[in-house]
Amino acid sequence: MSKIHAAITAVHGYVPDYVLTNQELETMVDTNDEWITSRTGIKERRILKGEGLATSDMAVPAVTELLRKRGIGADEIDLIIFCTTTPDMIFPATANVLANKIGAKNAWGFDLQAACSGFLYGLTSGAQFIESGKHKKVLVVGGDKMSAIVNYKDRATCIIFGDGCGAVLLEPNEEGNGLIDSILKSDGAGGQYLNLKAGGSLKPASHATVDAGEHFAYQEGQAVFKFAVTNMADVAHEVMERNHLTGDDIAWLVPHQANKRIIDATANRTGISPEKVIINIERYGNTTNGTIPLCLWEWESKFKKGDNLILAAFGGGFTWGSVYLKWAY
Ligand code: UT7
Repeated sequence: MSKIHAAITAVHGYVPDYVLTNQELETMVDTNDEWITSRTGIKERRILKGEGLATSDMAVPAVTELLRKRGIGADEIDLIIFCTTTPDMIFPATANVLANKIGAKNAWGFDLQAACSGFLYGLTSGAQFIESGKHKKVLVVGGDKMSAIVNYKDRATCIIFGDGCGAVLLEPNEEGNGLIDSILKSDGAGGQYLNLKAGGSLKPASHATVDAGEHFAYQEGQAVFKFAVTNMADVAHEVMERNHLTGDDIAWLVPHQANKRIIDATANRTGISPEKVIINIERYGNTTNGTIPLCLWEWESKFKKGDNLILAAFGGGFTWGSVYLKWAY
């Protein structure tokens, strides 16, 4: 019997309507469109506005449409892995919240926290349940409402992040398509450069933590940039080398959208030519767990069965990794 691979059989995404432009940010902090565009490649990002709306509310439309496209009911899902850094609440898991909202009555699920690499960690984790034969339909969701943890008075972070969510369905494939290989890494020593200090068990929420702004994302941009620019490129190169692939063998590079300069460095290192590099950072900024599934969603119609895709990500932790997959439809 041929090996069972976990293949993506459907993808969909959702971004909120509100567009936060560089021009509007110019009215909020001391910045300008020229600086943001040249340093990051970002022109605008989407923001989820409205009382009572959370990360799961972006997942609901993404998953509902995904299921419709695939022609299956929510009750057929076995497992939901919700990759997010901005869960609706600390607990219960947003995977459980989503299951309830979409009627996935037969699914179990959990949240996965690996910052911007979360979706690749989730994809690799979900694939294990398919490859082992344990499950037939695994939903991997990646999404964040970054606006909930961004300080719109801090020009170093507020220009980067946006809100959005994407989801894929994993199913068994015996034609040789699906997830072929992945390399995932982490280094906890990097935690000091990118984190959210309060609200966990280390520093429970208090007036002092609010006054100190410790419920906002904290980033030392240059330190993160230096680590990201080499490690995301190296890990993508490593997964390609291990599978005897050159840039010419790759149909699409799907990089985490954190900074256009980091994306360009990864394309250079892997020898993948610019027209095969998926980039939508100019419209959405960094949606953390959402970037890669949103790219897959927007480029879905261009993919062909058997296409070699290299996915690569980098994020807080530090966490980083790369996935090699063959598109299945
Ligand atoms: O997905 C999670 C992983 N995160 C990342 O991958 C982020 C990685 N880091 C980056 O993308 C970049 O470091 C940033 C985009 C965050 C910052 O770009 P940079 O080129 O590293 O800028 P910098 O922090 O070195 O700052 C350069 C200058 C400074 O001014 P001086 O000291 O040279 O006078 C900053 O104060 O730019 C200034 N600056 C700004 N100016 C206008 C910092 N932020 C802004 C801003 N607008 N928004």
